[in-house]
Amino acid sequence: MSTPAEIKACCAASYGNDAVALVLGESYHPGGPALTRKLAERLRLHSGQRVADIATGPGATARLLAAEYDVTVDGVDLGQSTVERATAATGEAGLAAKVRFHLGDAERIPLPDNAFDAVVCECAFCTFPDKATAAAEFARILRPGGRVGITDVTIAEGGLPEELGTLAAWVACIADARPLAEYAAILERAGLRVVHTETHDAAIARMIDEIDARLRVLRMTASARLAEAGVDVEAVLRYVALAREAVADGLIGYALLVAERRASERVFAG
Ligand SMILES: C[S@@+](CC[C@H](N)C(=O)[O-])C[C@H]1O[C@@H](n2cnc3c(N)ncnc32)[C@H](O)[C@@H]1O
Repeated sequence: MSTPAEIKACCAASYGNDAVALVLGESYHPGGPALTRKLAERLRLHSGQRVADIATGPGATARLLAAEYDVTVDGVDLGQSTVERATAATGEAGLAAKVRFHLGDAERIPLPDNAFDAVVCECAFCTFPDKATAAAEFARILRPGGRVGITDVTIAEGGLPEELGTLAAWVACIADARPLAEYAAILERAGLRVVHTETHDAAIARMIDEIDARLRVLRMTASARLAEAGVDVEAVLRYVALAREAVADGLIGYALLVAERRASERVFAG
């Protein structure tokens, strides 16, 4: 059994790995930019607002929100190389004045209290070992009335088959995923009122198919590079097949949640 610190470090290191970028492509979450836009609409983002993107990865969401919704964005990620990659890509996109990145942990966000109109967190809340503390941190940095928007992996109430509970499964955002109702309850306990939920199970099925297809091409074109990066393609393909089966059986899905910080409440982080 891994400790929370080991899980977080493994997750950050895996997503900072160049080979992962090859396998995942441009988007690190199911639904891609289309689902990010849907989330932005549900958050009612508009020009001049201040947004925090927690577990921002290479920063695609942060850049999209700044470019299309004219907001400023502070992205936070636990991976040093991920933050460096996000910063470089944002400079190349000419968005450095509107988007900046910070190295930090979602359970201890290096951003001030009551400062943000919106917090977004895509495909990452499920990996945080202490979800209650992360939710309290979202509430702390939001201004009263501000909104948090999460898109994430969900699981059925009965849980997952044992083989999907490994450390690799954790990194793949599955092992510690929760039912949608449980995410909602965690946010509510942190002083956030859930105002909207919707399911997007087809998005995760599509992402699994895309990863499978990319892996099969990479196996032929970049096997040495993947091996060098420590990626066991055959093992990942077996794992992808298991995940696809679990999605087809309705055990794994994907959902969008929006919650609002209650206007009157003072919120303290754990
Ligand atoms: C699946 S990727 C999602 C990236 C991005 N949100 C997106 O949708 O494209 C998960 C990201 O969460 C980051 N992460 C994992 N645990 C974290 C933590 N405790 N605090 C901050 N970032 C974390 C990883 O480094 C990785 O970049």
